[in-house]
Amino acid sequence: MPIVASDEDLGCGVAEHAFTLRVVTITTPSTRCYKGSNMNNNAQYTMGRTEAETKRLIQNARLYDEMTRRFLQRAGITKGMKVLDVGSGAGDVAFTLAEYVGPDGSVVGVDVNAEILDTARDRANASGFKNVHFIAGDARSLELLDTFDAVVGRLVLMYIPDPADTLKQLTTRLRPGGIVAFQEVDLALHKALASPETPLLRKLVDWECTIFKRTGAHIDMGIGLYRAFVEAGLPEPTLNLETPIGGAAVWPGYQQRAATFRNLLPLIEKYEIATAEELDIETLAERLRAEAVVAKRPVSLPPHITAHAVKGR
Ligand SMILES: C[S@@+](CC[C@H](N)C(=O)[O-])C[C@H]1O[C@@H](n2cnc3c(N)ncnc32)[C@H](O)[C@@H]1O
Repeated sequence: MPIVASDEDLGCGVAEHAFTLRVVTITTPSTRCYKGSNMNNNAQYTMGRTEAETKRLIQNARLYDEMTRRFLQRAGITKGMKVLDVGSGAGDVAFTLAEYVGPDGSVVGVDVNAEILDTARDRANASGFKNVHFIAGDARSLELLDTFDAVVGRLVLMYIPDPADTLKQLTTRLRPGGIVAFQEVDLALHKALASPETPLLRKLVDWECTIFKRTGAHIDMGIGLYRAFVEAGLPEPTLNLETPIGGAAVWPGYQQRAATFRNLLPLIEKYEIATAEELDIETLAERLRAEAVVAKRPVSLPPHITAHAVKGR
């Protein structure tokens, strides 16, 4: 059981001591980068804040890992950098960043969900990462006291009402010449990819769009990255679109789709989109697989768009 500091303690001064207790490995001055942030527990997160969701995030991170690695390298994350990872969740992006920046660099992961950061910290300790630490805070109101070489985030701007405003705020403490790099899903594009030949998949994508829209998330955040960067006063970003895709009889994507819908089930029922019987979650992965095999059509997970730019000097 870690010794836990209150969120108010996570600012300067006391925070360094608090982190020494909590994370054990953290002693660098980068623990001093926040003046405490205003926690806003009303921040929406469509997928819910459950253990099952934390597990799903970790599985999801595996499926998108290669894509994210290529992206971070393209964006220019290198040894020795000090990086802010926004919306860290269970920590997967922060861990990849920690690997890339090496022992001379450091990573600060921030998430509005304080509980999930306990998992991120446990995972960091278990993997022996000494250059990454996590702080609870809302990306919209972080008060950064330190400067960073890069600000990174995956699947987080889609949950923030004004992504451009948040990007603008987050990049105030990015050094001139620093990197801004975000990876976001585009559910609207996913809908366009779903064929009538795979009606179950198509129905799920449609439901997913409805639910995310109803909870206020940006279903087209991938494409929206361009606008967010430009409106934040950043240079036009370099963009890339990728998605894990598979159509073979054995593909982990079917299970991942089912895990997503298992966690969305409460909202599916709340919004009266479908009943639990109709969704039949226990057989969903197998039905998706059977449909793809019969149609001989590859199935894609939701596509991600990446955007990166360098802040003007
Ligand atoms: C889909 S998860 C992505 C986690 C991680 N970036 C990854 O790709 O594995 C989105 C995370 O963003 C966090 N989040 C949502 N709104 C936030 C905000 N305003 N400030 C900080 N974190 C936020 C959620 O709590 C959640 O953990």
